[in-house]
Amino acid sequence: MNSEQIRENFISFFKKKKHLYVNPSSLVIKNDPTLMFVNAGMNQFKDIFLGNIIPKNPRAVNSQRCLRVSGKHNDLEEVGHDTYHHTMFEMLGTWSFGDYFKKEAILWSWEFLTECLKIDKDRLYVTIFSGNEKDKLNEDEESKIIWSNLLPENRIISCAKEYNFWEMGSIGPCGPCSEIHIDLRSNEKRAKVAGESLINKDDPEVIELWNLVFMEFNRKENGDLENLSKKHVDTGMGFERLCMVLQKKRSTYDTDIFSSLISHISKKSNFIYGENLEKDIAVRVIVDHIRAISFAISDGQMPSNVGAGYVIRRILRRAVRYGFSFLNFKTPFLYEMVEILFDQFFKTSPQIKNQIQYVTNIILEEEKSFFKTLERGSSIIEDIVKNSNTSTIDSIKVFELYDTYGFPKDLTSLILKENGMSFSEKDFIKLLNQQKERSKLATSNLAKEWVTVNNEKSNGFLGYEFPDTYEREVKVLMYREVDIKGKKLFQIVFNETPFYPEGGGQVGDVGFLKHDNSVIKILDTKKENNLIHHLVEKLPENLESEFILKVDTNKRKLISINHTATHLLHRALKTSLGDHVEQKGSLVNSKYLRFDFSHFEKLDNEKIIEIENIVNDSIFFSHNLEEKVNVPISEAKKMGAIALFGEKYNDTVRIIKFHKSIELCGGTHVKNTSQIGLFKIISESSIASGVRRIEAVTSLGAIDYYNSFSKKYTQIGNTLKNIQNPLKSIENLISENKNLKERLEVLEKRELLSIKKDLVNSIKKINDLNVLVCSTEIESKSLKNISFEFINNYKNFFLAIFSIVNNKVIFNIGISRDLITKKNWNASELIKKFSVEINGSGGGQDFFASASGTNTENINLVMNKIISFLKSN
Ligand code: SER
Repeated sequence: MNSEQIRENFISFFKKKKHLYVNPSSLVIKNDPTLMFVNAGMNQFKDIFLGNIIPKNPRAVNSQRCLRVSGKHNDLEEVGHDTYHHTMFEMLGTWSFGDYFKKEAILWSWEFLTECLKIDKDRLYVTIFSGNEKDKLNEDEESKIIWSNLLPENRIISCAKEYNFWEMGSIGPCGPCSEIHIDLRSNEKRAKVAGESLINKDDPEVIELWNLVFMEFNRKENGDLENLSKKHVDTGMGFERLCMVLQKKRSTYDTDIFSSLISHISKKSNFIYGENLEKDIAVRVIVDHIRAISFAISDGQMPSNVGAGYVIRRILRRAVRYGFSFLNFKTPFLYEMVEILFDQFFKTSPQIKNQIQYVTNIILEEEKSFFKTLERGSSIIEDIVKNSNTSTIDSIKVFELYDTYGFPKDLTSLILKENGMSFSEKDFIKLLNQQKERSKLATSNLAKEWVTVNNEKSNGFLGYEFPDTYEREVKVLMYREVDIKGKKLFQIVFNETPFYPEGGGQVGDVGFLKHDNSVIKILDTKKENNLIHHLVEKLPENLESEFILKVDTNKRKLISINHTATHLLHRALKTSLGDHVEQKGSLVNSKYLRFDFSHFEKLDNEKIIEIENIVNDSIFFSHNLEEKVNVPISEAKKMGAIALFGEKYNDTVRIIKFHKSIELCGGTHVKNTSQIGLFKIISESSIASGVRRIEAVTSLGAIDYYNSFSKKYTQIGNTLKNIQNPLKSIENLISENKNLKERLEVLEKRELLSIKKDLVNSIKKINDLNVLVCSTEIESKSLKNISFEFINNYKNFFLAIFSIVNNKVIFNIGISRDLITKKNWNASELIKKFSVEINGSGGGQDFFASASGTNTENINLVMNKIISFLKSN
């Protein structure tokens, strides 16, 4: 069975058990500060588990791409070294949302594995939760009883919380779990050592296959568990591992999922996979990591220096590093694999075709810059090696190379070893841990527990049903204290709200909370886990009273104008540049709008004007807003609505249409495009390879922009005393300036000639030396040229020339070469000695040196000292 058939079998088995197929969500998490990437199939259902939303169907099935590279579930360092861990893997998942519980979950998983897939029952083991004193939880008796009807008791193993209690993160939904493990060892090995003794012992042939989680609790900030309002099931099975079992392979990397990637790398590196352990690891790292990087980028996560972007950058660099060190790749190579990888997914995600070029380009640019880092790092290490007196290098230097330049530690170690040197790994780890501690502090969750005031459900944002409601009488449902950049603030959830929470690029509303005479400012509005939080500096006094919640309507109006303009711009870009244009990000606030999109070249002035014209035409033709809600996603797509790749949509969506612009959108908009008034692009730039950014202003912002331009233009005209045609005056000034410069150069040359003549006349004999010790007013470059001329043309010659330029002393010493040998003098040493008196310092070579100093008054004193020195030597 190939991997595609295996996936299909799983989904159709559970569809028959009344599970609804749900599309996998984007790998990149946008709405949850506790997680960066999807780390389990259940992430997208967190709100259902917490009781914040009601599911459409009580049972679900899907296959979800997951990334375990940060936070609680982190497998990164193991990947490649063993033969079954992955950064990105697919999880085959099933869910019961308050519907069936342990019995059905266990029976169906068993039926699927042993009857549908015909996996040998004798090779399967299961684990159950043994209980935990601290959490006051007993052993999972119920699961034990159900399993004991299916397999002998010696194959049911009771395990501690560490293995059999599943938690998404440090807080959130969780519960005991029961895992199915498989023993893939030969019969010989199985006869010698019992399989049950190898469960959870990192044996590559006795591995976990499926995890059945019985989600009953919510882990709170203080570590306590509270019961969820309903009991749920969340099961997840490693797709790659299942393929390995069914395709009778010894490693997930030997399945058809990886074969085309491995054969590409083998061909490119002229190496047969399986022949050398070190190189095999490198191949596994590369073919694993390219999947994580490519899908994260196509789901909207650009590599960068912070947060989730940094995680992706580090994975990419880990892959490059292994290729560079073990497969001898000295130029970018990862980017070539994107097409081979995506090719496997055309059937399940047809839109991925449009992403190939974009993802390839981003990876290529990242690789290019990291290869430069590798070159630069190598040369820094060469310097360290050259300048070191001992064979042990300070670990701080190695850590700096790693932390600041991204230069890998093991590469440093390799290069040092080749030079007979080393550093203390222990100290390096210490520095690394200190840094990890610092970054943990910076990203830790600084919100306290919610305090409930009213136990009602929240109706959320009112603006969809009542778009003209900006003010509402509300009740506080709950609040919590948060620490934002070291400042103590509060977030409040109301029973309903006219405030739009940040989302889809549009900023959250600001406004006021009023009660009697007290007014509290709402500083921002955000949505998390389906609850709308209003940020305030202080809490109102009597939380149980009724309040008036009022949006700052001026700001909201400008924000809506900019949001509609963003849609018109998106449409205009597609019309003017082509259908390859895809939105890559946006920001809409009351001052301006920002729109990032895929396109490979700079937009010239003409294109920018063309795009502005298309948008301004749409404004001029006054198109009405046509809003459609609850449209099935398939119908929306048929209508040509633009959906963002990697964005998660519900099955029914909201469509915002202005004439030919049709988008899926949750934001606020104007009723008619004419309300935008005017649209002006103020900048166009590149933010990454293949991604461009436009910033634009509208309405009042555009008028301000034109006004400030016209003000500057008038100022220029006034300064030039030519209001009618300042450009002509500027052209005249430029040409005049050019003529003056040329004239000045001629005059300077003439002046220099005459100075030189004077200097020649000032040459004196001291003992038998030709000596020129004098002060002039020549600028430093000419002074140096003249000094060189004298040293080269005179024999037995010593020169010390001073010049005062901009209140500073410039001081040169020159010695003809014959004199250097005769007297054993060194210009660099002499200048150091004599420049002390002018508060200066300097240096150079044996025949010429220069210094600069601040004490102009002591020039004569120094000249006299030099003459005495010459007389006495
Ligand atoms: N959430 C569980 C896991 O990730 C089961 O899906 O293992």
